[in-house]
Amino acid sequence: MKVTAFVGSSRKKHTYNASEKFLKNLQSLGDIEYEIVRLSDYNLETCKGCKSCTDRGEEFCPLKDDRDKLIEKMMNSDGVIFASPNYCFQLSGLMKMFLDRLAFLFHRPRFFGKTFTSIVAQGFYGGKDIVKYLNFIGDRLGFNVVKGSVLTTLEPMTEKGQMKIDKIIDKQSKRYYETLIKKEYPTPTLFKLMIFRMSRTSAKLMLNEDYRDYTYYKEKGWFESDYYYPVKLNPFKKLIGRFFDMMATRSARSR
Ligand SMILES: Cc1cc2nc3c(=O)[nH]c(=O)nc-3n(C[C@H](O)[C@H](O)[C@H](O)COP(=O)(O)O)c2cc1C
Repeated sequence: MKVTAFVGSSRKKHTYNASEKFLKNLQSLGDIEYEIVRLSDYNLETCKGCKSCTDRGEEFCPLKDDRDKLIEKMMNSDGVIFASPNYCFQLSGLMKMFLDRLAFLFHRPRFFGKTFTSIVAQGFYGGKDIVKYLNFIGDRLGFNVVKGSVLTTLEPMTEKGQMKIDKIIDKQSKRYYETLIKKEYPTPTLFKLMIFRMSRTSAKLMLNEDYRDYTYYKEKGWFESDYYYPVKLNPFKKLIGRFFDMMATRSARSR
């Protein structure tokens, strides 16, 4: 299996080291090949906000950078890690630039069955919300999300501080490994079911063949399916799924 870490720090320090330790742990647990992608080694341009990718298709993006190379790395992995330092109580700008370049994938998610987690390195405060945000991002991209972790890296780093970090990474990598080897296509929660049914029904009623979301959903059979991927819904979820379709229909017709 292959796991790729995307590191959003330009320096090779705590975020990189924690990611490397995480991946080495995975290797000690099973037959894992890994790659560390330092985003600073790639050309990522600033999104111009034209919405060509979401509306017409990603191939219409006017920017020529390494976006597709990076997405291919995600597609060719069984699991990914997004690792970022905490800068000004948020992700690093580098990581955010990367996420902006993936924006169309939130409309048309495709990483089902793959595992995701996040690592945030910080001096002292703000990382929890960043991890929460990254977990949400992983979820919206279709991944099976393993809860991320915040590492306190206040310098000078003490032996005790380093041991604390190592312990967190050890625990997180074990949790991640368990999910990775299952390669599950889980039954959606009510919230996820709602997001899928509302967005597909809205797309069906409000868009047309001129929109890439419409043609993508159609190609995937998502206008008729219960969920993004084949899954057995219990009678309650079947019923509530239809209710979400109905709500989206009402809302589309009242616009
Ligand atoms: C521009 C900048 C802003 C930062 N802002 C915060 C912050 O808001 N909260 C925090 O706890 N640490 C903050 N830090 C500290 C870093 O999160 C910390 O040093 C982290 O280990 C950096 O990751 P790295 O070692 O991979 O470069 C900031 C560091 C920089 C360079």
